[in-house]
Amino acid sequence: MNKKIRNIIKKKGKIKIVCLTAYSKNIGKIIDKYCDLILVGDSMANVLYGMKNTHKIDLETIENHSKAVRLGVKKSLLVVDMPKGSYKNPREAKINAKSLIKKTGCDAVKIENNYANLNIVSSLYNSGINVMGHIGFTPQFKKNFKIEGVTSNQQLKLINQAKKIELAGAFSIVLECISKKTSKKITESIRIPTIGIGSSEECDGQILVTDDILGLSGFYPKFVKKYINSEKLIKKAVKRYSNDVKSKKFPSKKNSF
Ligand code: KIV
Repeated sequence: MNKKIRNIIKKKGKIKIVCLTAYSKNIGKIIDKYCDLILVGDSMANVLYGMKNTHKIDLETIENHSKAVRLGVKKSLLVVDMPKGSYKNPREAKINAKSLIKKTGCDAVKIENNYANLNIVSSLYNSGINVMGHIGFTPQFKKNFKIEGVTSNQQLKLINQAKKIELAGAFSIVLECISKKTSKKITESIRIPTIGIGSSEECDGQILVTDDILGLSGFYPKFVKKYINSEKLIKKAVKRYSNDVKSKKFPSKKNSF
């Protein structure tokens, strides 16, 4: 386990863990100073490539973006999402995770957990690979969005799942769209940090998609807080550029050789 991972685990219950996604070198470089963990998420499928879900993004694409992000990220723990279909069985999971780590220099991989893939977490862990789990609403396995952990039965199931993922060797678990009371119970039931998205302040840390907080993605569900309206700023800048080109204000002497 590397030092960055140990430091993240140490924060549990003491200091909130700050996490965001990045798909490019420039964004990785800008957010690195303020984050503990940066995820190259398979959300790039929707956010960057305009796909309807995350199911078709492939390993090579994730790998290329991760290489770019690695160039910008020096301080934060760099985690890469394993895309759907890349961890169908322990053998494939190990081959693909090892290759991702070798080619991109990331510190860890994240997989989405259904109730049948605990053996993937343990086999990655047993091969020396740092692995993060992901429970609740898991877009690779679920079609229809709904808040998870609402009934006491669902709550019990999620707590047990989180405990088993911890036991299998994960260093942290993403809780996606899980009710506040269940997020609290899960967080109290395990020794590894929970990182919430749409899962309340009861988690040990928070993650959001960077394009969402920047107001770039056009996707702003209840759990997203838009910190800046980049779309508006970009439109303003591009309009000025367009006017300058048309009116021959750009390029000026200053921009010419
Ligand atoms: O792909 C992603 O960006 C994620 C986060 C939303 C947790 O899995």
